[in-house]
Amino acid sequence: MARTQSRETQAEAGAERATVIKGFRSARLGWPELHRIPHPPRRIPLLGDIAGASVRSPVQDSMRIGRELGPIFRRKAFEKEIVFVWGADLAAELADESRFAKHVGLGVANLRPLAGDGLFTAYNHEPNWQLAHDILAPGFSRAAMEGYHPLMLDVARQLAAHWDERSRAGDDVDVPGDMTKLTLETIARTGFGHDFGSFERSRPHPFVTAMVGALSYAQRRNTVPPLLGPLLQPGAAKRNAADRAYLDGTVDKVVEARRKAGATGAHGDLLDRMLETAHPTTGERLSAENIRRQVVTFLVAGHETTSGALSFALHYLSRNPGVMARAQAEVAEVWGDVEEPAYEQVARLRYVRRVLDESLRLWPTAPAFAREALHDTTLGGVHPMNKGAWALVLIMLLHRDPSVWGEDAEVFDPDRFEPKAVRGRPPHVFKPFGTGARACIGRQFALHEATLVLGLLLRRYDFSADPDYRLRVAERLTLMPSGLRLHLTRRSPAARTAAAVGA
Ligand code: HEM
Repeated sequence: MARTQSRETQAEAGAERATVIKGFRSARLGWPELHRIPHPPRRIPLLGDIAGASVRSPVQDSMRIGRELGPIFRRKAFEKEIVFVWGADLAAELADESRFAKHVGLGVANLRPLAGDGLFTAYNHEPNWQLAHDILAPGFSRAAMEGYHPLMLDVARQLAAHWDERSRAGDDVDVPGDMTKLTLETIARTGFGHDFGSFERSRPHPFVTAMVGALSYAQRRNTVPPLLGPLLQPGAAKRNAADRAYLDGTVDKVVEARRKAGATGAHGDLLDRMLETAHPTTGERLSAENIRRQVVTFLVAGHETTSGALSFALHYLSRNPGVMARAQAEVAEVWGDVEEPAYEQVARLRYVRRVLDESLRLWPTAPAFAREALHDTTLGGVHPMNKGAWALVLIMLLHRDPSVWGEDAEVFDPDRFEPKAVRGRPPHVFKPFGTGARACIGRQFALHEATLVLGLLLRRYDFSADPDYRLRVAERLTLMPSGLRLHLTRRSPAARTAAAVGA
């Protein structure tokens, strides 16, 4: 049986070599024993596992399929076959940097026309990755973060003013929409000294619309083959070109304004570092074209995922009044009657941070990352992989693996992140920021920003949800709650500083 399938595998691999899409390496080419890995039943010749598949929610689809097929499985759409991994043991192996590294494939590779060799989309071997990483890493140091804190507070103040207005009018707030305004303004102002004026607009800034268009297009290219694209989605390529041109044009204006003002290094922000700083040992600088790619990368990567993380956290707070009360009590205890916290008071909100971690566990807003073999190896002792073969780690299922998180893994419970509970778990089971050398450079930035904003909002409001709302999650490479609106009640000054629950 195994031998027959193996011959099939070889024949299909031969056929695929001829048709494979440039830049996409099908699982057939790198996994000699692919037949050992289960795939959904009802596979259709040429078309693959498309019965019942959703183009709009491939991640949630994969989650459903993964639960049925187990910790490693494969899916095929047309000529593309992908191996998915979510079991904690296998994912821990893939985190081993001596055997595996980031694979730039699928959605990440589809973003190359926009983000080029910017940090997120650079291939591991591209010299600009190390160069930009070394130049920009100090922009995420503790000292740099302390410098961004007052600007983060300014933007949070704008959000509070907007929400006060909505609550006075008795209107609910559009959580993902407003969190996107907040996080876009925060990265634009702290990183690039640019003000998009998002809170002065009733509709999303065109930058956000173009970005969502570009991300959605990159996601759809994973499932719709290029030849069928024009048939299935007429006009999509043209719209994508327009979105990219808009994003590039915006970035060029931001950079041009700084060059005109004179990039003296006085801002001390990411853009100053890109324009002014030479590599500490080689003296090399980023080229103008690479700066363009880095700016677009940071404007997109620096806000979309944090906005989703904040939105999911607010959703869970509104659904769990006990958690909300405990978080509010902590804010009162740590911040006292200080209206706006100092930098170091943010990290002291340990329970609020657990709320955030638990939200990122259930809905990691960057829901997957890809890893490729550095040399021939065997995954889990049974799945040989050739050098360059890769797998997609499905973070959302890894974060719900019952063997690690228990039978109640689907339940929201911030206490899972109490230090003792964290110490009791194996490493590499919580990976919302990716892994290894290519893990998220903005992790501390995102965590500081999100904890600060949650603290400020918890102090100011009680949140309640429409009881009929059921969480729906939109996918555009990232995850975002869809249609989430909350009702706000301003808290009294006495309630804001009541340190103990029920005090
Ligand atoms: C909750 C918020 C965030 C989440 C969940 C998140 C998640 C991730 C993940 C999973 C990766 C690795 C992707 C891969 O392996 O292919 C990554 C990389 C990256 N992220 Fe984030 N991110 C967040 C916030 C941010 C922020 C605020 C910034 C910038 C200010 C940022 C900038 C980047 C960059 C530049 C990379 C590429 C790093 C490299 O390869 O050197 N991210 N992020």
